[in-house]
Amino acid sequence: MTDANLAAIVLAAGQGTRMKSDLPKVLHPLAGRPMISHLLDSIGRLNPARVVTVVSPAVRAAVEPVVVDTLIAVQDPPNGTGHAVMAARAAMAGFTGDVLVMFGDTPLVTEGTLRAMQAARRGAGNPAVAVLGFRPDDPAEYGRLIRGADGNLNRIVEYRDADADERTVGLCNAGVMAVDGAVLFDLLDATDNDNAKGEYYLTDIIAAARAAGRICTVVEGDPDEVLGINSRAQLAGAEAILQNQLRAAAMANGATLTDPATVYFSFDTLLGRDVTVGPNVVFGPGVDVADGVEIKAFCHLENCRVAAGATIGPFARLRPDADIGPGARVGNFVEVKNARVAEGAKINHLSYVGDTDVGARANIGAGTITCNYDGFMKWRTEIGPGASIGSNTSLVAPVTIGAGAITGAGSVIRDDVPADALAVSAGPQTNKDGFAAGYRAAKAAEKAEKGKS
Ligand code: UD1
Ligand code: CA
Repeated sequence: MTDANLAAIVLAAGQGTRMKSDLPKVLHPLAGRPMISHLLDSIGRLNPARVVTVVSPAVRAAVEPVVVDTLIAVQDPPNGTGHAVMAARAAMAGFTGDVLVMFGDTPLVTEGTLRAMQAARRGAGNPAVAVLGFRPDDPAEYGRLIRGADGNLNRIVEYRDADADERTVGLCNAGVMAVDGAVLFDLLDATDNDNAKGEYYLTDIIAAARAAGRICTVVEGDPDEVLGINSRAQLAGAEAILQNQLRAAAMANGATLTDPATVYFSFDTLLGRDVTVGPNVVFGPGVDVADGVEIKAFCHLENCRVAAGATIGPFARLRPDADIGPGARVGNFVEVKNARVAEGAKINHLSYVGDTDVGARANIGAGTITCNYDGFMKWRTEIGPGASIGSNTSLVAPVTIGAGAITGAGSVIRDDVPADALAVSAGPQTNKDGFAAGYRAAKAAEKAEKGKS
């Protein structure tokens, strides 16, 4: 149910210059989706009445399609985090509940933390602002939280504006705030840009709230959860944290990971019970693996389904819309794309199977290739149940192999094969008796003659 007293503003106007990228920072992916989508997902779990994403003209076209479920506010030109929130003023008109203000570059914040922030904002003393704080190993350039003797927050000082004493403070600003929406814009109006960057800082609303006689409070969070991403190194750090969480969750749900540190998941990977995943397996987005499946080492899967009891790999690639049936086997150096492989079918070695239906219990011999692309269009291959495709067969689509049919090794199959028929396309074999021995003798004599001259 919608929480009529909760709204969120997500700041995403910065280009993220420290990333040195043409892609806006908040769109850099983590576990297979843009970092801002992780954050919006956590926010969504609190069912806020409205969510506003603040973009700049420079990033708008790229960011807007990713945040379709939110209102868009434009900050033009970006002039600080406080200035960004001011840009959301019109979108927030009439709202006086609690406002979560978040940074699109701090994507690992969880639903639980957001709920704790909301509770703190509504808690004792009616604080104007609850700020998420944390104690990183290296406080680096994070803003420092300056508290009074009573433990309440008096102000936030940005690293560049801090003196040597303030820089020794280990408690830092994570960038998430829960603000009393009745005063948010009044507090912002009370701030100025008289600081090292010449920008309007969101962090200055703390001092403004204190000056207005309100208290502010700190909720301490887990450093791994509030990592801000400003550089590629921090992006990799966040990916590592997320991957460890996804590995732990997969194991907690009943999957065996032989070497967890080498398995890479997407945010939405689904593994059933008693799935075994060998070393060096990568799951792209949209993978659904049912119970009892074994995925051997060095496989790459994306946007595909694997039914119960199937065996994949080692060294297999399942591309989008591969649909592997119960108990089917896809072996080494096999690529499957947009294909249904029915129950018990086997594609064990060195094959490409694309735009294909493989019938139940069909056997696809080593080196079989579906020739699905004529240079202009893609065509389908239909292989009936129980068919046996000989090694090194080329199936030139569109083509249909009937149920129980057999193709001879090395055949190029251009025409449909009726059920239970044998199709061979290579010409009859001729043996020339003694030819090889004669050939070797002639060549040896030739070489000896050359050596003399
Ligand atoms: C900010 C905080 C700092 C905190 C740190 C946590 C301020 C002034 N500083 O610093 O106290 O420790 O985050 O990670 O708030 N953005 C806009 N418009 C702008 C500027 C920024 O939308 O004009 C957005 C960015 O896209 C980004 C977020 O706000 O998602 C934070 O901006 P960034 O420049 O990364 O702030 P930090 O220097 O990291
Ligand atoms: Ca940042």
